[in-house]
Amino acid sequence: FLGLLIWAVLGYGLGSIPFGMVITKLMGLGNLREIGSGNIGATNVLRTGNKFAAAATLILDGGKGAIAVLIARAFAGEDVAQVAGLMAFVGHCYPVWLGFKGGKGVATFLGLLLALAWPVGVACCLTWLVTALISRISSLSALVAASSSTFWMIVLDQGTSFVLGVLITLLVFWRHRENISRLRAGTEPKIGKK
Ligand code: G3P
Repeated sequence: FLGLLIWAVLGYGLGSIPFGMVITKLMGLGNLREIGSGNIGATNVLRTGNKFAAAATLILDGGKGAIAVLIARAFAGEDVAQVAGLMAFVGHCYPVWLGFKGGKGVATFLGLLLALAWPVGVACCLTWLVTALISRISSLSALVAASSSTFWMIVLDQGTSFVLGVLITLLVFWRHRENISRLRAGTEPKIGKK
């Protein structure tokens, strides 16, 4: 049990690094909290107008989810890797460094799924992409992609517990509460727009 706890904490620690915040600060792009949705993710970094910073945020926020899974798997096996990945996602959403006010976990859950069961990860990324191409709305794409994760886990059966998909879906929806209100009101901005 202690081993699992240590991997959970390590996963959380990795996930809690707010790369969007760090990159925008380092590049002098302003305070993310005062831009767009105020979120720390790649979608909001893109609202600074800097595509490179947004891409770097996407890759690093996804990468930390993947790294948490890969390290835990190498040392402690598949089941622990699922917990470490889940905790990286939780860490992104509730980072201790930002008073537990973090992001929405989209890049991180896609990254951890790619590392955990790549066909499921690819299917979720494609689900995000297709929804984004049609709607041009990042939050809607995230909600559809998260919802699809359980389905892909069952259909593609990679040995990943579908409970992970359910937890990802619930937390992604919870973190997108404000986006869901805007979607319902028809005021959610398209990708790249303030
Ligand atoms: O990845 C987060 C995205 O789904 C929504 O971001 O900044 O539009 O709230 P934002």
